Amino acid sequence: MSEAVAVKFREVNGFTIPFCKIDEVKVPWSYLPEQFNEKCFEPIFAEMKKLVQSGDYTLGKYLTEFETRFAQQLKVKHAIGVNSGTDALKLALWALGVGHGDEVITAANTFIATVGAINELGAKPVLVDCTDDFCLDVEQVTQAITNKTKAIIPVHLTGKVANMKQIMEIAKHYNLAVVEDACQCMYGKFEDKHTGTYGNAGAFSLHPLKALNVWGDGGVIITNDDDLNQKLRSIRNHGLINRDEIGMFGVNSRLDTLHAIIGNWLVDSLPQISNARTTMGNYFLECLKGIPQIKLPISHADRTHVFHLFIMFAERRDELYTYCSERGIEVKVHYPIPLYQQQGLQVLGYKPGDFPVTDRHAKSMISFPLHQYITKEHVHYMVNVIKEFYEN
Ligand SMILES: Cc1ncc(COP(=O)(O)O)c(C=O)c1O
Repeated sequence: MSEAVAVKFREVNGFTIPFCKIDEVKVPWSYLPEQFNEKCFEPIFAEMKKLVQSGDYTLGKYLTEFETRFAQQLKVKHAIGVNSGTDALKLALWALGVGHGDEVITAANTFIATVGAINELGAKPVLVDCTDDFCLDVEQVTQAITNKTKAIIPVHLTGKVANMKQIMEIAKHYNLAVVEDACQCMYGKFEDKHTGTYGNAGAFSLHPLKALNVWGDGGVIITNDDDLNQKLRSIRNHGLINRDEIGMFGVNSRLDTLHAIIGNWLVDSLPQISNARTTMGNYFLECLKGIPQIKLPISHADRTHVFHLFIMFAERRDELYTYCSERGIEVKVHYPIPLYQQQGLQVLGYKPGDFPVTDRHAKSMISFPLHQYITKEHVHYMVNVIKEFYEN
């Protein structure tokens, strides 16, 4: 093992949590130093200076401009800026009437934020296993519906797009709301429509390591429903309907105007960013063909995958993790312990083995860096390291 890398593993309930700190990074996970290099400072700071001089620090014209341009990019009527992807999910459910005692169906393999947003409203998260495309197992969604079910949150995890056609059919049949968790999938498509535009609302994160990112936390809700738009604008701003009148209880969850300036600087690049991720992700897939120890997630011809990262199932995953880390590749695992096995979520009442596909994924998947600054050379390097590992 090289001196610089120390890979540590911890065992929790039979799942391993790998962790490493790489000194000499050859394929970086984060693209922030490249994306926000010195060239962007001048135009962004010039806009920020104007904002500071205007004193218009909350809501205001920069946020309106960002919301308008974001909605245009996704070909949707309304975009509402909020303070995180988590709040985008929570406020969308709230505006759709989800509250105490209701059940919301979502994916067992998702990130904690999806389930946390449901929980914050006093509703019960009902988890459903995924298939080998990382998306909700649609047949299990129907089985999970009870007379308390109010909504479904399909999660487009890792940039993979859920089967929105089938999910919308189920939702229509059982009269359920749908909020798409597109936090990891901005500009993905099911057939010819963008993720987030199938359900009643779509939720996006603007976290620094998301495709369209700001300098801190941020989120966006999109919808084609005029009433929902009005309600969401009110909820994110204390329930105000104008300066002096309150229409309902709400919260303070406005997207910061400073962040909207960064959003405006980036929003026109969204198609290029997504295309770069899709193209390089597909190239990576091609290059990996023929390695029998690697299994790739299922792809669907009717969907455009935007590659939030590059995930695969690998034999001897933990050894591969160490091997790649030692060679400067910033690999990760998303996520090493499934939510329902987490100590903090035992209150949900699930028991080990309830989600076998999610469990299998947690033990065998490994994520490689994939973003708009990954080059063919990076891909060749990663593929060679993987091949070398299995050949030895
Ligand atoms: C699937 C998923 N949902 C929701 C969120 C929440 O987004 P945020 O961190 O902006 O609150 C994330 C963030 O990583 C996510 O990956």
